[in-house]
Amino acid sequence: DRVEYFRYKGISLPRYLVSEDMDAIRDFAIRDDDVFIITYPKSGTAWLQRIVSLLRFGGDVSKTDQKEQDELVPYFEQKCEESVPFRELPEAPSPRLIKSHLHMFLAPLQLKQGKGKVIYVARNPKDLAVSYYHFHFLCTTIKTPTSWEQFLQEFVSGEVCTGPWHNHVLGWWEQKDNPNVLFLKYEDLQKNTRKQVEKVAEFLQWPVTPEVIDKVVEQSTFQNMATNPNTNKVSGKEAKAGIFDSSKGTFFRKGVVGDWKSHFSDEQSQWFDNFYQEKLGPTGLHFDFE
Ligand code: PPS
Repeated sequence: DRVEYFRYKGISLPRYLVSEDMDAIRDFAIRDDDVFIITYPKSGTAWLQRIVSLLRFGGDVSKTDQKEQDELVPYFEQKCEESVPFRELPEAPSPRLIKSHLHMFLAPLQLKQGKGKVIYVARNPKDLAVSYYHFHFLCTTIKTPTSWEQFLQEFVSGEVCTGPWHNHVLGWWEQKDNPNVLFLKYEDLQKNTRKQVEKVAEFLQWPVTPEVIDKVVEQSTFQNMATNPNTNKVSGKEAKAGIFDSSKGTFFRKGVVGDWKSHFSDEQSQWFDNFYQEKLGPTGLHFDFE
């Protein structure tokens, strides 16, 4: 079941995308109150989708949970059944909450020009690679790995879907000082969720009370998201469309920092560290690995 990808400007993307889609995406008209959650897959996307949805509705779960999370915060460039959100969003009411895995150089141009808001979430690449590896079994639109070693090679060389992780993270890291960009890390969310939620609320300039923040933190825990049918992705849109094969794994797998230790050999760990030290070292972008 080897799946081929769509190669665009050196990046492997989901096979349903075509060149005209990429043009339409670049030219997509941004509104001032748009909120984009942008990540390399497995960096904490669903977590941020939940946090932003809850903030949008003042922590009121009866409002957020009227709709499945992926409908509240649609996945911009994903074709699911016959619909692709970036084609339908021009008709959607404001404020539009949007999820995307696009590289900075492939994203809507107006975002880079300062229009709308971008929340970027980055995760240490070791835990991310482990999470992505397991996700490749669950998700039917990407290639099932033949082994951890083979997957790791393809991850580092950027042959996996979404391309090289370091290009993605560094492209958005370059934008981090733009007033319309908030750059977050998964490990910081783990360490102090409340502080990061406050940061998000402040960045979005949505009025909140400490009670609202309490509710957002409470409703966005791993445990609550894993057991809530609106967020757990078990029976959601993607499962219905056959994109997730739940017999092969679970989306809410572990949700911790440091699981890489149970997958990387010492040799793999050293090779991986050297590779990314060279890419990230000079940029000032650092991660916690435990
Ligand atoms: S995706 O497919 O790109 O949308 O995936 P993404 O949501 O970015 O990443 C999934 C990983 O994030 C973990 N996760 C969480 N961790 C802690 N707290 C909360 N609330 C949470 N929600 C999701 C999820 O378990 C995946 O990581 P792993 O390491 O595989 O468990």
